[in-house]
Amino acid sequence: MPHIQLLSPRLANQIAAGEVVERPASVVKELVENALDAGASRVDIEVEQGGVKLIRVRDDGSGIDEADLPLALSRHATSKILTLDDLEAVGTLGFRGEALASISSVSRLALTSRTEAQEAAARVEVEGRDMDARLSPAAHPVGTTVEVRDLFFNTPARRKFLRTEKTEFNHVEECIRRQALSRFDAGFTLRHNQRVVQSLRPAESEVDKERRIGSLCGQQFIDNAVIIDAEATGLRLWGWVALPTFSRSQADLQYFFVNGRVIRDKLVAHAVRQAYRDVLYNNRHPAFVLYLEVEPATVDVNVHPTKHEVRFRDGRLVHDFIFRTLHRALADVRPDDHLRGAVAQSFGREPEAVVANPAGHPAGMGASLPDQAPPVAGGYANGGGFGVGSASQPQQEWKASDQMAFYQSLNEGGGGASRPDHASQPVAVTPPRDTDEEPPLGYAIAQLHGIYILAQSRAGLIVVDMHAAHERITYERMKHALAEQDLKSQPLLVPLSLAVSQKEAALAETHGEELQHLGLQIERIGPETLAVRQIPALLRGADTEQLVRDVLADLIEHGQSDRVEAVTHELLGTMACHGSVRANRQLTIPEMNSLLRDMEATERSGQCNHGRPTWTLVTLSELDKLFLRGR
Ligand SMILES: Nc1ncnc2c1ncn2[C@@H]1O[C@H](COP(=O)(O)OP(=O)(O)OP(=O)(O)O)[C@@H](O)[C@H]1O
Ligand SMILES: [Mg+2]
Repeated sequence: MPHIQLLSPRLANQIAAGEVVERPASVVKELVENALDAGASRVDIEVEQGGVKLIRVRDDGSGIDEADLPLALSRHATSKILTLDDLEAVGTLGFRGEALASISSVSRLALTSRTEAQEAAARVEVEGRDMDARLSPAAHPVGTTVEVRDLFFNTPARRKFLRTEKTEFNHVEECIRRQALSRFDAGFTLRHNQRVVQSLRPAESEVDKERRIGSLCGQQFIDNAVIIDAEATGLRLWGWVALPTFSRSQADLQYFFVNGRVIRDKLVAHAVRQAYRDVLYNNRHPAFVLYLEVEPATVDVNVHPTKHEVRFRDGRLVHDFIFRTLHRALADVRPDDHLRGAVAQSFGREPEAVVANPAGHPAGMGASLPDQAPPVAGGYANGGGFGVGSASQPQQEWKASDQMAFYQSLNEGGGGASRPDHASQPVAVTPPRDTDEEPPLGYAIAQLHGIYILAQSRAGLIVVDMHAAHERITYERMKHALAEQDLKSQPLLVPLSLAVSQKEAALAETHGEELQHLGLQIERIGPETLAVRQIPALLRGADTEQLVRDVLADLIEHGQSDRVEAVTHELLGTMACHGSVRANRQLTIPEMNSLLRDMEATERSGQCNHGRPTWTLVTLSELDKLFLRGR
């Protein structure tokens, strides 16, 4: 073995840089965070060749005192914390005191700065293996400019991992997007190869904020978003969540900030997914920009060098709060929330009609839906693999169940449609003339091909997919009825014996009461054996073993399980789908109107159980455009 020696400061910094400085975008992140921590109201970012050649970040923040300049570039030197207590309640983005030291060990870095109290600015660079600071006078207004040239020039291994200029710049842009979403009060400009790519003024008002989100995340997003703002015991969640009909094929429009810091977190992701579960087709992803504010002392941000992860002191509380808030917000969306904006658009003059939709924007659903709707492959997916009636024969399974009466009564209560008439000629009548109080979805005027209901409203023409709409109404009714009944438990004729790990067995034992509440009676009959004695009556046909294993896995991972509810809802969803009005059934006008009224009164009625939209609006102005008709 060779002798033990101290690493040179540069090498030590280069090793540290390995964790934090992965690519140009990581440098941009650190520099912009420093600018924001310094209270900047303007941050200008300039990048050349995707950031490999040059990254320059200039701010109008507090600046650094000349005497402190050499320290700014040395490791373990920070102005942001001093004690462990400070760390535990840290409110700044930085606190490790090593970003600049790391970056300057793998690039040619120069920092120029001036404080209010100083008359002239100074510039600092480091040189040699000991990274000695070299100071020189400079000209600079109050604030700081950091210039990073030739990233990884001295670490060829790292340089090899760099992608094309375009890819690297995309990462830089994404980084700026996050920063700009995290701090509305600061202005940002981003230049690439001398071209302005993004320019954002500080956003003070709500309108300005939404404009910023529109330019960062797309106008479509904000047009289809619901505003959230909820508070509970030391927690606040606010921001924008897209309606389920504006879902995405990838999880690429999901921004979650905790105390201004963008994070990726399993617990948060799970809570959000759970909130959308009921309204989103399986492989679609919700879009959101959300801000969670918590007492700094209740969240640990010192978990990972890049600070992309956090640990909540009370994870369960945070999970529940996020889930409940989003779930409620999505359930509360009603047809008139979308329509008011559209009405305002079509009838710009009517003041009483100009009521903002949830996100304060006029949003004609018709205009924003194309290509958002998920594909529906092979009819209605049963999903989950719990074997509760395959899509091809769910009715049989259901008939076999003694819950049939319950189901039928619900279905009959639904929007009519009891005539098994397969005719599909259009039916048309004149709707009631302009009444004062027009319902949001208007009045039915005809049925098209036995599939769509056409309704006239002040905003224009409303087209309803009657099967999809009825399916949601039936489903929501069933859920309500079920919630009132509780999950009735039913003994298994032959208890199911399950081989599990010791950990799972112990878990089932300690959570016995909770499981019982879910309708599951599970007993530990050996160190690694469980006996399932009772399951919810409704899930009789389900794959019990899979269900119990999944519930236990949830308990291990999240300390709770919504599995039983999820499977129950999935089953209800399948039943609702097959029990709802099928295509090619002729409805009378009163039946159609009653379906429209039911929709208006039903939670989540904008989407069917598979997340597809149930209705759309073609505004009068859209129709006018089709006919080149000026108004
Ligand atoms: N743009 C800036 N304006 C004012 N001060 C700055 C700026 N950038 C850096 N500093 C000063 O230099 C110090 C070192 O910055 P550096 O980014 O290396 O560490 P940090 O921000 O304290 O912690 P972290 O490593 O977590 O980012 C900061 O604590 C701050 O005092
Ligand atoms: Mg920093």
